[in-house]
Formats: sequence, structure tokens, C-alpha cells
Amino acid sequence: MTTALYPGSFDPITLGHLDVIRRATAVFDKLVVGVLVNPKKTPMLDLDDRLAAIREALTEELGDTAKKVEVDSFDGLTVDYCGKIGASFIVRGLRAVSDFESELQMAHTNRKLAPDVDTIFFMTALEHAYLSSSLVKEIAAFGGDVSRFVPAAALRRLRR
Ligand code: PNS
Repeated sequence: MTTALYPGSFDPITLGHLDVIRRATAVFDKLVVGVLVNPKKTPMLDLDDRLAAIREALTEELGDTAKKVEVDSFDGLTVDYCGKIGASFIVRGLRAVSDFESELQMAHTNRKLAPDVDTIFFMTALEHAYLSSSLVKEIAAFGGDVSRFVPAAALRRLRR
């Protein structure tokens, strides 16, 4: 069984993340969506809300495919968490060339740290290529409408 980890902040999960999850489930037997607990960042949604938004979005938007996906949190190094859950692949999304440099740097560093773990990139669907959690947060913080950018489960939590 091939397990992959999709790590990230998911603050909040966007339709772009969901698109990457959908694509990754077509390739891997099991996908773990790992929400990083980062003490250096103050998230807009707390950890429980981020986890719940992802879990609900999977059930509401992915149907049976959601059964292949586990959602959990982790702290520390991504490659250490891969070892813990038996993941041989890290999944990341690429929206545009601008993502490439930092993602390449991360992939090479992770490979040095854990040569057995490979990073696989999925190109986000074109309609989500402009989307980022940071922009969603900014729009939401100013009371703007983010319903076209995030799944309903995340929207419910952002509105609270
Ligand atoms: O959603 P993000 O914020 O782009 O995700 C970044 C993430 C969580 C994948 C990255 O910051 C990460 O892996 N952090 C865990 C600590 C770690 O392993 N750092 C070394 C990466 S080369």
C-alpha cells in the first residue's frame, strides 16, 4: 500500500487544496492530510477548526474518495512525520512558476533529510491557480466574500 502525506498549514483549506487532494487520491492508496502545528504562526482558524473544516469538506465534496484520506495534525519535521505514518511520498501543489522555487528548495532539503521520501507535485486546476490561503484570510478579515474560494465547511468556520 502506497501512502502519501499532504502537509500544510491549511489556514483555511481552499478549493485549490481540495483539488490537489482529489488528484492525489487517484494516484495513492492512502493520503494523509497533515496539518502543521506551527508555534511561530498565529493562525486565523485554530487547529481544531482547521481539522474539522478539512474533514467536513472531504465528506461533503469528495464522496467515497474521502475514505482514502486521513486528516491529522503534526509538529516537527515533515519527513519525521512521514516516517511515523509510513509515507514514502510528500504531496505538494504547484499553482504557478512562482511556487516552483520555494517548493524545489523544500523538496531537495527533505530529500537530503530523508532520501527514501520523494516529493510529488500536482498542478492545481487552472481555475484555482490564483488562490492562496493568505489572500483568503485577508479578504475574510476585511469582511469580503470568500465563498468562491473555500469549501462550505471552511466558510462556516470563517464566518463564526
Ligand atoms: O501550507 P504551507 O504553509 O505552504 O506548508 C508548508 C509546510 C508545512 C509544508 C512546511 O513549512 C513544512 O514542511 N514544515 C514542517 C517543518 C519542516 O519539515 N521543515 C523543513 C522543510 S524543508
